[in-house]
Amino acid sequence: MRWKSDALAALLCVAAAGAGADARIDYMLHCMGCHLEDGTGLPPAVPALAERVGYYLEIPGGREYLVQVPGSANAPLSDAALAEVLNWIVERFGGASMPAEFSPYSADEVAKARADKPADVTEQRRALGEAVESLIVTRARGNVRAPCR
Ligand code: HEC
Repeated sequence: MRWKSDALAALLCVAAAGAGADARIDYMLHCMGCHLEDGTGLPPAVPALAERVGYYLEIPGGREYLVQVPGSANAPLSDAALAEVLNWIVERFGGASMPAEFSPYSADEVAKARADKPADVTEQRRALGEAVESLIVTRARGNVRAPCR
């Protein structure tokens, strides 16, 4: 019966899309309103995740910050679902900002960072922003040859 095999094929597609599909849907429901479909946001009010979010993974406190920022930490998502969304964001939007290696967030790591929120997220964000800017400069320097020794 043809309809049965069509239905089965559709079901297999849904299963194959797996966690990534859930993460994309969670992003659409809970994050996209501000950060937009392509992660470019509306700077300076809503910072761009695109080509930027990966820098945070390389600076002290930055990895936790991506969980602790209010849009993430206060989202009505379980720790496991937030981990999936953050992994999806980093992989999808990180682009040139990505570090050489990225080990995905786990539900446990998200739970810990959520429970350990800094008192002043605005100050944390300012300090990390400076660290991101200097990382950008350092990486750019790494791409040119040292003039002399
Ligand atoms: C109501 C608008 C809004 C929504 C919805 C929102 N965010 Fe944000 N997001 C912001 C703003 C504004 C900032 C800048 C920091 C701040 O002021 O909180 C930000 C910052 C961030 C950052 C850090 C980027 C940086 O450069 O500082 C991450 C990561 C992030 N959001 C992830 C998420 C995730 C994940 C979701 C969905 C679960 C989400 N946001 C939903 C507005 C939003």
